[in-house]
Amino acid sequence: MIKLIARRTLLAAALALPAFCALAAPLTMGFSQVGAESEWRTANSASIKAAAKEAGITLKFADAQQKQENQVKAIRSYIAQKVDVIAFSPVVESGWDTVLKEAQKAGIPVILTDRAVKVSDPSLYVTFIGSDFVEEGRKAARWLLERAAKTPGAALNIVELQGTVGSAPAIDRKKGFEEVIKSNPKLQIIRSQSGEFTRAKGKEVMESFLKQRDKKIDVLYAHNDDMAIGAIQAIEEAGLKPGQDIVIISIDGVRGAFEAMKAGKLNVTVECNPLLGPQLMQLAKDVVAKKPVEKRITVNEGVFPAEVAAKELPNRKY
Ligand code: AHR
Repeated sequence: MIKLIARRTLLAAALALPAFCALAAPLTMGFSQVGAESEWRTANSASIKAAAKEAGITLKFADAQQKQENQVKAIRSYIAQKVDVIAFSPVVESGWDTVLKEAQKAGIPVILTDRAVKVSDPSLYVTFIGSDFVEEGRKAARWLLERAAKTPGAALNIVELQGTVGSAPAIDRKKGFEEVIKSNPKLQIIRSQSGEFTRAKGKEVMESFLKQRDKKIDVLYAHNDDMAIGAIQAIEEAGLKPGQDIVIISIDGVRGAFEAMKAGKLNVTVECNPLLGPQLMQLAKDVVAKKPVEKRITVNEGVFPAEVAAKELPNRKY
């Protein structure tokens, strides 16, 4: 009898073991990052890695070097490795349907971070966490409208450094900015080109804008701080004063932008918060536990003009 009870207890324990292990096993996340193109991205990657560690999540992290094909490869490898959840920041908006259907078929939930996608079926991802890029573009333009109101009648020629072609922030920041400036016909975008969100390309494109001498450039609108910082170099090399001869507006709010504002070379930066790691890890836990989550989670962000840069700089976390 005792032998029988002991055998049954052992059998019950053996049957319960896999379920116990599954409960105790740390959650595994496969994350595909856009690249390392900007100060913002570096802060974003660091936030994700630190938050995963803090949350006890095993993170498989791949840098796609700004290439969609690398992201597709990474996602497929996460599917093959049977991770618990896939998260990624899509370099461009379109072209994700096939790989996301593969993840769905494998039963692996997908979370979008930072950048959104355009897909035929929204159920291909569970949730999105990031910024409202259209609103960021609007905020940049509102700042300019207020400044322009101080010199009524004066025409302002704007050049625009766009982010990566086809990316959500480039599309949305352009859209939001244009939507607001159209209320003042004196504000015109005279040139617009991609600087790929990098300092080097931002400098190169600004140089080419400056070489075309047919129209005076009054304002630079850069879709991120890194391109603005590259452009500042080009403006100085052309013998002009950035922040004075050319008003400069950019987006992100990284430390480098605050330093440039403090030095009087950048006029305003619109904040885009890269510190998404802690919220992403909590979301991943909720999604894997099948708790209900919002389809779109956006973060609150501010606008920092040069006048507050010196005071704000010590408080900046990225
Ligand atoms: O997707 C967010 C954007 O990507 C940031 O504004 C930019 O700096 C980054 O490269």
